[in-house]
Amino acid sequence: MEKLIITGGVPLGGEVAIGGSKNSALPALAACLLTEEPVVLHRVPGVRDIRTMQSLLGAIGARLERRNQGTVTVQAGKIERAEAPYELVRTMRASSLVLGPLVARTGGARVSLPGGCAIGARPINLHVSGLEQLGCRIGQSHGYIVAEAREGLRGALVHFDRITVTGTEDLMMAAVFAKGETVLENAAREPEVSDLAELLVKMGARIEGAGTSTIRMEGVGRLHGAEHTIIPDRIEAGTFAIAAAITGGDLKISGCAPGHLQALIAKLGQAGVEVTIESESSMRVRGSAGLRSVDVITEEYPGFATDLQAQFMALMTQAEGISLITETIFENRFMHVLELARMGANIRVEGRQAMVAGPRALGGAQVIASDLRASASLVLAGLAAAGETVVDRVYHLDRGYERIERKLEKAGAKIRRTQ
Ligand code: EPU
Repeated sequence: MEKLIITGGVPLGGEVAIGGSKNSALPALAACLLTEEPVVLHRVPGVRDIRTMQSLLGAIGARLERRNQGTVTVQAGKIERAEAPYELVRTMRASSLVLGPLVARTGGARVSLPGGCAIGARPINLHVSGLEQLGCRIGQSHGYIVAEAREGLRGALVHFDRITVTGTEDLMMAAVFAKGETVLENAAREPEVSDLAELLVKMGARIEGAGTSTIRMEGVGRLHGAEHTIIPDRIEAGTFAIAAAITGGDLKISGCAPGHLQALIAKLGQAGVEVTIESESSMRVRGSAGLRSVDVITEEYPGFATDLQAQFMALMTQAEGISLITETIFENRFMHVLELARMGANIRVEGRQAMVAGPRALGGAQVIASDLRASASLVLAGLAAAGETVVDRVYHLDRGYERIERKLEKAGAKIRRTQ
């Protein structure tokens, strides 16, 4: 199994370029199933979850062509198998994003239930009940959700009991052809939802209000091909911003969208990290010796992203005072805590809250993580630790970061990948 070996203590410098958003490219690829015409997507990141989604689209019957610089053309001329099999859903829960488009396009779909997941139960009941409200009949058979709407979906008011990002995206894709008006209430406001809406509108869909909690749609007869550039990955950008801060570095982060990172930028500022927005697509992050502890509560966008919680916790191990970190989105997302503690961090967890007391000098260690963002936090801790840190199971990182070690190395970090 591949590992990353990091020798900590080097302040990061220079410039790092951010790639396209994984969580935006995933629904964008699924949306390609809604038309028989080619859809061209630019800035699709070369990460493992994207390759999994591409395999899924291929198994469904789409033809895909990947060119350099992250341009992918998808043509779903014919849907051969309206199904997301267990083997793929098991490795990537976001496979359930094909449920909505397949029902909309073919009037039926079979999607494996996701099953257990490292960061909590993560059910898809809200996707299912939303589809039912659009007139879909849903059953369960042999571990699969079986959805049927042979006579097509009809517009309806869908109120989400709680905010769900992929649930909002799935329903938006399901409703593009639904007869009449569909209103999605308590919808997710993440930039990835707005990006998907932008693509769907380019394909001919009628959608208003994406980016707010009420999305209104009017069903159309068909969608056509389109060309679209995926937004920058705000979680990758945030991870590098924290990397600059934790090493006391001075790093320019280019090709990003600082406007999508306001909650993080505010917290970094309170902690004593200097963040300068240089343009709409670049920012400079300068760490300081005297980091101060700040409290963080994860929330839906525009709140502090749960996908940056583990990385921010690594930073707080280096800050003076006590930081209270509250995770409200997922019930089991503190898997990095024990590994950070093995590196010398002082963290106590009670339910959904972690108390981090700092600053504590970290020492390199062999660590392992079972989740993408938890692995990122261990890499960050390794960059700040004295001596050598070995991060095992790099495949978790490869799900969502494109060649993280090369980007960090370019910024001066001592990091390499080994078998
Ligand atoms: N939930 C339900 N029922 C549902 C759907 C969600 O109870 O039908 C619960 C979840 O269990 C969770 C909460 O609602 O407690 C929010 O989950 P959400 O559906 O918003 O998460 P998601 O759509 O599965 C996306 C990202 C995650 C990110 C979350 C929260 C993608 C592909 N994934 O997941 O990204 O953490 O939103 O922002 O967009 C990552 O990139 O590392 C990652 C995990």
